[in-house]
This record gives sequence, structure tokens and C-alpha cells, in this order.
Amino acid sequence: MSAEKPVEALTPAEAAAELERLARAIADADAAYYQNDAPELTDADYDALRQRNLAIEARFPELKREDSPTERVGAEAGDGFAKARHSAPMLSLDNAFTDEDVADFAARIRRFLGLPAEEVVAFTAEPKIDGLSLSLTYEKGKLMRAATRGDGQTGEDVTKNARTLKDIPAKLKGSGWPDSIEIRGEVYMAKSDFAALNVREEAAGRKTFANPRNAAAGSLRQLDVEITKARPLRFFAYAWAAASAPFAETQFEAVGAFADWGFVTNPRMIRIETVEEVLSYYTEIEAERAGLEYDIDGVVYKVDRLDWQQRLGFVSRAPRWAIAHKFPAEKAVTRLLGIDIQVGRTGSLTPVARLEPVTVGGVVVSNATLHNEDEIARLGVKPGDRVEVQRAGDVIPQVLRVVEAGQGPVWTMPDTCPVCGSAAVREIDDAGREDVRRRCTGGLICPAQAVERLKHFVSRKALDIDGLGEKQVALFFEKGVLKAPQDIFRLKTNIEAAGLPPLEEWEGFGAASAKKLYSAIDARRKVAFARFLNGLGIRYVGQTTSSQFARSFLSWQSFWAAVRAAEEGGVGSEAYNELIGIDGIGQAAARALMAFEGEPHNREMLAALLQEVEVEDEVPAATDSPVAGKTVVFTGTLEKMTRDEAKARASALGAKVAGSVSAKTDIVIAGPGAGSKLAKAEQLGLTVMTEDDWLALIGEA
Ligand code: IVH
Repeated sequence: MSAEKPVEALTPAEAAAELERLARAIADADAAYYQNDAPELTDADYDALRQRNLAIEARFPELKREDSPTERVGAEAGDGFAKARHSAPMLSLDNAFTDEDVADFAARIRRFLGLPAEEVVAFTAEPKIDGLSLSLTYEKGKLMRAATRGDGQTGEDVTKNARTLKDIPAKLKGSGWPDSIEIRGEVYMAKSDFAALNVREEAAGRKTFANPRNAAAGSLRQLDVEITKARPLRFFAYAWAAASAPFAETQFEAVGAFADWGFVTNPRMIRIETVEEVLSYYTEIEAERAGLEYDIDGVVYKVDRLDWQQRLGFVSRAPRWAIAHKFPAEKAVTRLLGIDIQVGRTGSLTPVARLEPVTVGGVVVSNATLHNEDEIARLGVKPGDRVEVQRAGDVIPQVLRVVEAGQGPVWTMPDTCPVCGSAAVREIDDAGREDVRRRCTGGLICPAQAVERLKHFVSRKALDIDGLGEKQVALFFEKGVLKAPQDIFRLKTNIEAAGLPPLEEWEGFGAASAKKLYSAIDARRKVAFARFLNGLGIRYVGQTTSSQFARSFLSWQSFWAAVRAAEEGGVGSEAYNELIGIDGIGQAAARALMAFEGEPHNREMLAALLQEVEVEDEVPAATDSPVAGKTVVFTGTLEKMTRDEAKARASALGAKVAGSVSAKTDIVIAGPGAGSKLAKAEQLGLTVMTEDDWLALIGEA
């Protein structure tokens, strides 16, 4: 920075010019830091800018700008952390609700590993803490970074905040820790600390927290570290990732090691060997639940042997070797005030119960889903009735039953869309079954569907545009400047063309946030294949299916060429077979893609959108493996591992596992009893190998 005039020496005109310069410089620095992950200033330089701004404002309060950087900090709390990419995804857990689900889980593991009945499978069992997960990176025993879960791939860097927790060691104790490791666990607030915090908040005239989980999340994600420091947060360590060296053979030993290294681990974690013991542990913890120091929402079982965990691997976002056994949902009784209709992005009409607000398990509920008209008929529910509602975890609350009928008239589902007035019908499928959902037939002309599609396009699991949430999408849509996905990238021009004032003059925007939004949009001009496909909101093509297509085709161009060819060639064509030949892809997804491509409006939209964004190629899972990118088919009996395990291993190494043999197949692994697939492979002159050849190829012989 050039020699600056001392604040005391500034004339009012100089001060005004200086405040303008500082507002811009700070907004630019914020954008570089928060949106582009590329800080342009050192922390010290940035602080100096802010301090100078503050000093000038203190001397010339009348010159304080509307977009003053001093005003923005508080308003944007929680929005201002740097992104932190996890070295291995932070996973979630599959849920079990019944004893049978748990027995199925254990049986699945045996089947996958091909274990004989007499082989004991030990599990660890521990409470499932209702907090928020945190990943702590340690290098040479020193805490380097703390990151929240975020979307599982990328979270927020909350290192400074995490350092204030006494349960999180800044330096690992003892010995035997790998040079680098990510320790994962749960940040939570004890019930007693939560109650005391709310008393203090209330006394200070501030908003209280709904439950300990919200209080923990709100306390950790504070831009002002001093606030976090003053909050009684705790941490249990229960998992890890990216260890540079092995340090244990079982889950139980691993968590024991965490305790030696200075972490707090859950004293209620035990090791058990039978499904019966697992279930009695569940009953025991459920009985203790109310008296525990912290909120829990179930118990977690994990396969104890780490070599087995390794072999079991993951399915989409959850490990095969662990499961959360959830406690029954919490319930409450309240009055049904009315039934509203929500129109979804695929046109489905969902009846939503408007309720007299009621607290269910620590959260105030005022809406609950009624699913569809058959469900309403089954419940026999109508406005005015007293109903029982249930809330379980993060799922949408549901109406369970009528407790006491009121005087209201019977409610009927409308047969037109409440938004666009088009007919709303229940489709009949090929087998003559009626869809339980009524759908608006307005398609592209229905504004509700259009808005929902746009919301989906920018949502976290799709384009994930910071600052462009549901509220903003609805606003831009209403103003007519955002009608189709491509308009997002033409927002500025569309606003100008509509004769509207520039965004920075709109209520609720201001120069800094307008600039921030535009740069967040620009940051998404390059987008990952799976996010882009998921964002299109095609029926049956959600997050998991989109990732499967991305991993299989790698490039958007080759994928869409196959969709186009399938649309032209129809069901049964080679391109169609290529789509449904991908492991895990069903006919419904293939047909929905073809129908999408067959609609001229969609083709135009896609072409316009691709003018604005570049869809990045998917990077194969493990590029250094000899089978990365290869299409493989398993046929016949495998002798060293189960079919499921073989497929999972191949996918983990970046291979594409297909269900049928075609000219595009690279390797066919044929075991005893292989029949028509082997014959076809030989006829096509493909590489055919035995299970042992395959294991040798992937270095596991
Ligand atoms: S293990 C790969 N253990 O539950 C293993 N998770 O519903 C992943 N959670 O994201 C997690 N208590 O935030 C594990 N004892 C426990 C847990 C636990 C709470 C959370 C965790 C996870 C979520 C999944």
C-alpha cells in the first residue's frame, strides 16, 4: 500500500473517497477469499484495511456508506468461512429402524464377505451423538486444520474455532500416531450447558436456541472466535480417514488409540459378537437416553475388523460396514389448520398440512407432509381435526393419524394445478397402475414447476451457487430476469435488458452482495459432470444416478451423444443398451433421459446452457490403477470373493462394471459355469480372463 495519509489529516472529501476505495478493496478481498478460494491479501493487510475503514468512519460518522464493510460482518456470520476439501469424503450412515433391519445388515455383511456360518463377526456399538461432525487434520501430531462436513466433499475451515475446544488436542499425546491422519468425530453441547446458555441468551435479550444440536452448530460456526470460545462445546472422536500408516487392526483398538492420543472417546462404546447382544445394547442405551448428558438419536454399529471394513467399502455415501440404529421418532398432538398444495419440479402436487405450531423433540413444527390424496383418504383427515405428528431426524415431519375429528368439511384434492390452472392428473403406467401422485400437466408453462426446477438447479447438490438460494431464485423469477437455467449466467444483462436498476440498488442487495453473487455465479461456469446432470432435474436421474453416469462416461459429450443416439434409435438400440448396461442404471432413468432429449424445448435449453457453462470431465476414481476407465463384466462363479465384493473392488479401482457384454467391454472375468456372456465375449474377440488373472492384474493375487 502506498503511503497513506493519517486519518486525522484527511479532509471530508478525501475521507469520502477513501471510504469508497476501502469498501471496494474489502469487498474484492472477501470475494477472492470466500468464493474463489484464492486470498489476495495477507490476514494482516486485510485487517489493516478494515481498521482504517473503521477509524475513518469513527472520525466522519456522517460519511459512513450504505455498503460499509463494518455493517456486513455480523449480517454475514456463518457465510464467511474458507472452503476446505476433505482428503476422503465425510460419509453418512445408513439407517436401521427395526431389529429386522439390523439382522439384515449383519446378514448382508456375511454374504458380501462370503463368510461361513461359524465365523464370528464382531461389532463395536456406541451411542449416535446428535451434534455435527468435524474432521481434524493432524500432521506430525499437530492440529493443522478443522473442517465441517459440508456436502461431504467440501466443508468449511473452522480451525480457529476448533482450537478453542478443550476436547480437541492441539498436539497429540503418547506415540504411535501416523505422520498424517484425519480424526473425525462429533461436536456437541451437553444438555446442562445448553440450558444454561439459553438462560444467558434470554437474559441478554438475544434469541435462544431450539435444541443442543443447533446451539452446537451455531456456536462452532462463528466468525468471531471469541464467541465460540465462550460456548461450552465438546467433542467425541469416533472415526478417522487418510491415515499415512496403519495404527490398529480393529475399530475398538483404533478408538482406544485416540484416547491414548488425548481425545475424549465415548465410554459407552463396547465390542459385541452376536446380533442378540447388539439388540440388548440398543435397549439398554434407549433406557438410559433421557438421563445421558447429551442428546443421542440412536446407536451406531461398526464391523470391528478393519481388514473387513476395507473389503466392505462404501455404497454411494455410506459405508457398508456401519449402520445407525435409530430410536423411534418423537411424536406430538396438534390441530390441523388447513391443507396447502405444493407443486414440485416434476409437477407433482403434494398436500402439506398447516399445523398449529407444536414442539416435537425440541423443534417447533408448523408444517407436515400428507404425501398424496390416497394418504389423506387413508388417514381420513380434514382441516379442524386434532392429529398426531412425528418428526425423525432431518426428515420432513409427517401426520400419523387423527386423534380427534373436528367439525370441518371433507377435503378433496384439486384436479387442476393451483398455480397454472392446467389439469392435474394421475398417470397410468404401462402395467395399468395409477400413480399415487397427481401431477400438473402444465410442464414448461407452469411457473411453479419452473421455479422449483431452478431452485433445484442452484441447490447444494447441483450447481451450489453461494448467495443464490430459494428466496433469490423466486425473486429473480418474479421480476422476469430468470426463467431458465441459462439466465443465471446472463443475470446482469437480463436485468439491464428488462430496464431494471442494477442489482446493487435492489432492496436487500447492496454493492458487496451483488458483486459477491455475480462472482459466485461466474465461479460455476465450470461445473462437475455429476452436479450438472443432477441439476437438470430429470426424473429418475438424481445424485447417485448422475454420479454413476459420470464415472462411466467421464465426458459429458460422450454421455450426451449416447443419450441422443438412444433417443434416435429407441428402446433396444445399441446406445440404449449401453445406458442400461451400466451397473445400477435402470430402464426408467434411460427412458427419462431419452424423453428429455426428445423434447425440443429441452434441447434448446441445454444448447443455450452449454454456451454459458463448461461441463468438466469426471476424473476416474483411481487413475493409477491398471483397470481405471476399463469396462469389465463378471460372469460365472467367483471363488475368491463374492460377486458383490468383486464389483465393488473393481469400481473402487476406477473400472466401470457392466452387466452385459458388448463391443465396448474391455475385460470379461469368467469363472466356472460362465455361459452366454462368455460365448459372446469370445465371438467379439474380447479379453477374457480367470478370476486369478484378474486378481494378479489388480495386484491382489
Ligand atoms: S461414524 C464412516 N459414529 O452421524 C463413519 N457417526 O448419520 C461415519 N454420528 O455424519 C460416521 N455419532 O456426524 C459415527 N458414534 C458415531 C456417531 C456418528 C454421530 C453422526 C456423524 C455422521 C452422521 C451420520
